[in-house]
Amino acid sequence: MARLLDVSRTGIWQALQDLDESGLSLQRIRGRGYRLPRGIQWLNRERILSAIGTNANRIDLMLADSVESTNSMLLQNTALGAPHGSCLASELQTRGRGRRGRSWHTGLGGGLAFSLLWRFNQGVASLSGLSLAAGVAVARALREAGVSDVSLKWPNDVLHRHHKLAGILIELQGDMLGPSAAVIGIGLNLKLSDRTRSAIDQAVTDVHSICKAPPDRNLLQGRLLAHLIEVLDLFSESGFSALREEWRQLHAYHGKTVRLLQPNGPVVEGRIVDVSDDGSLLLDSGSGPRRIANGEISLRGAA
Ligand code: BTN
Repeated sequence: MARLLDVSRTGIWQALQDLDESGLSLQRIRGRGYRLPRGIQWLNRERILSAIGTNANRIDLMLADSVESTNSMLLQNTALGAPHGSCLASELQTRGRGRRGRSWHTGLGGGLAFSLLWRFNQGVASLSGLSLAAGVAVARALREAGVSDVSLKWPNDVLHRHHKLAGILIELQGDMLGPSAAVIGIGLNLKLSDRTRSAIDQAVTDVHSICKAPPDRNLLQGRLLAHLIEVLDLFSESGFSALREEWRQLHAYHGKTVRLLQPNGPVVEGRIVDVSDDGSLLLDSGSGPRRIANGEISLRGAA
């Protein structure tokens, strides 16, 4: 390899170390060399656009090899005037971000990591149910691709049998009264390497562990965008209320007693009775339902 590429053996060794770091599992065979146990299905612009279908012309698609975070980059572009429908998908994120300051790990080719910019005439104040709406789009795309038993966990985790399959991070720019812009970041686990899996501190799963015939990576990327467009159109017109019933059906913890961890607030325990039109959770701790706008469901210690 060193001879072929006209670099030193140390250069090759370093590059292969970097591949390990990127979460790719590489087989080393003593005296023979290296090999990838499976090929990588690289992102392909034409195939993604063709999978989106009739609405493909509404997406301004950019593909990157490696970025720190597609959300961070698209947020910067949003401030510089990037158009509605801009989408950045990257093969690798070196500093992928999750909710509540967490990291998001995806190995090279082991998942989908992309962000979509959607501009709204409405203000930031009216976008509270947007992350739940995005969850509906992801669930629809996965179901259509043959991934069964997909459910959602308020506000927007995508689960398969209580294991996390995908996450959504929405970041907003703009005024309370409008206009506003949302960068909708989605990370989906397709095939997690052992290394990536061990970096994640919660119950996770990936599409390849669930599906006998996992969908093509580009097809899934395109269908996710197609469903997002559909759901976002509906959301812009009628808000979350138009998707509320479907979301309720998808919620893994509807009617369940849970603990709710609130940012800077007390931990509350109660039964989830519903979700409201603005995406807040209605939790009954014994004295009637109360609205929770922010927080995280925990099942640990719940009755
Ligand atoms: C979460 O469940 O905590 C949200 C995870 C969101 C991850 C995606 S991957 C694409 C986009 N870019 C990021 O840095 N984060 C989101």
